[in-house]
Amino acid sequence: MFRAVRSILLLFTLSLALSAPELVVHAAPPETSKTQSSADPWWKHAVVYEIYPRSFQDSNGDGIGDLNGITARLDYLHDLGIDAIWITPFFPSPQIDFGYDIADYSAVDPQFGTMADFDRLVSEAKKRNIRVIVDYVANHTSDQNSWFKESRSSRDNPKRDWYIWRDGKGPGKPPNNWFSWFGHSAWTLDSSTNQYYYHYFYTEQPDLNWRNPEVQKAMYDVMRFWLDRGAAGFRIDAVSRLFEDPELRDDPILSGTNAYGDPNIEHKYTDNLPEVHDILKEFRKVADSYPGNPVLISEADQPNISELTKMYGNDDEVQLPMDFQVADVNKLSARDFRRLLNEVDDNSAGGQPHYFFSNHDQPRQWDRYGNGTHNDQIAKLMATLLLTTRATPQMYYGEEIGMRTTPPTSKEDVKDPVGKLGWPVDKGRDGERTPMQWDTSKNAGFSLAEKSWLPVPPSAAQYNVQDEARDPNSILNFYKKLISLRRTMPALRNGDQTMLNFDDQNVVAYVRKDAKTGDAVLVALNMTAENTKLKFDLSQFGLKEKNGKSLIPATAGKISLENVTLQPFAVMIVQVR
Ligand code: GLC
Repeated sequence: MFRAVRSILLLFTLSLALSAPELVVHAAPPETSKTQSSADPWWKHAVVYEIYPRSFQDSNGDGIGDLNGITARLDYLHDLGIDAIWITPFFPSPQIDFGYDIADYSAVDPQFGTMADFDRLVSEAKKRNIRVIVDYVANHTSDQNSWFKESRSSRDNPKRDWYIWRDGKGPGKPPNNWFSWFGHSAWTLDSSTNQYYYHYFYTEQPDLNWRNPEVQKAMYDVMRFWLDRGAAGFRIDAVSRLFEDPELRDDPILSGTNAYGDPNIEHKYTDNLPEVHDILKEFRKVADSYPGNPVLISEADQPNISELTKMYGNDDEVQLPMDFQVADVNKLSARDFRRLLNEVDDNSAGGQPHYFFSNHDQPRQWDRYGNGTHNDQIAKLMATLLLTTRATPQMYYGEEIGMRTTPPTSKEDVKDPVGKLGWPVDKGRDGERTPMQWDTSKNAGFSLAEKSWLPVPPSAAQYNVQDEARDPNSILNFYKKLISLRRTMPALRNGDQTMLNFDDQNVVAYVRKDAKTGDAVLVALNMTAENTKLKFDLSQFGLKEKNGKSLIPATAGKISLENVTLQPFAVMIVQVR
């Protein structure tokens, strides 16, 4: 009952917030599903938006976001122009890794709602042409999962081999030198059966044994469970870690130590084993057995383009491999971005790239790319890069209003266990997971609780949806404008992409041209604090006119392509013929 009243209140507040005069005309997402051909699937044109459900909208006043909160904000997402939301795990979990430790793959954690809430979210999203992508944590479960409880109960339990159990090398000595990504040995001794189990992440996240066909079957059934409930696909967590070397060879030790005091190692025998691709093919078969082109997005933090290229399965593996190379340039380097975008074009063999800059594991782009004085302008520049290349863009909640990383100020306040272990070198990931900043009311409109699970950053006073919706120059309206252009202009929606001006140290520039309609745009991004003069000759693309119509910044007349000046960190999108 309270929940229902609260939802009505929330919808009311939301409609007030969004009834402010809108300055940007937004084209609603086109109706796709039925007429969609698999040659031109929806995910090629989608803008994907990641939601960390704990932090998006709390609908029941407990300080933690939930599924009904997401449903209440669907109109906002629709208005922004979002086509698909990826929701990080909302399944029953002890929340050691905030949901990435799953105790039951086929249920909803009561703190996030019920299965009926999920069904309602999917159906309300569908009414707004928004698809729901579910997180698929394939590498490991929680140690509280009934599968693991059975597995650890005795050496001859039928599920013993569902996880990786090995004898140690001797008293107090684990089977080998493998280290957990989250610090210390990747092996934990289970004293009752006197064997070690393997965990790439926290001790409480035992790795599944993907060499066991029963595990494979159980996990494909998990996919079917969510596809049957209307999920539009999966973001597959930590996929490159599914397999380990069966001989358990020691990983090579590198120089130095990490934030947890462990020696740096190369994860040679636990990452990117070739068997991963066999499983990706099976994932794809499951996805393809459903109508509507369900999408598979891989969290594949591949070290270079040749490893990433293997993730582009085109027709038989994942459709969208997240590109960590592009995400983690970590400086405004025209040269690096141009090289990486070009490399992707040369290597993706027709596959569709998937770019992002922020997520729940990465410090936010506002400060990671910001220079301390031009952060808002740089946020717009990064938005332009994200939303104008041919890659499918993935946004992280709050980037569209310029949310910044706000780490805890003392160790006692840290929620993310890696932040406790690595403090103060690694403060963990709380800083990028703070509540969404909706307005200037209590807890920035995120929650009516006394205290939200993470504090609302002070920046919410200026950076919030309500205020930015009214400001024509806000980051929010800039995102809306870009998304709307991406949706409506054939060049940005479908066009080929060619990088320009390879010697330019300051500016990344590219042309997108749609072969069918001839529609073309020139995009230029000044990655420096200097005024930069530029000249473009686009005749090799059949674009003979020396003038173009500038869409961003919007100008009345045409501008000359032979004499362009870009202000510090300015962007330019020009329609060219
Ligand atoms: C992925 C998730 C991260 C989680 C880890 C272990 O990298 O994005 O949040 O901690 O997997 O599940």
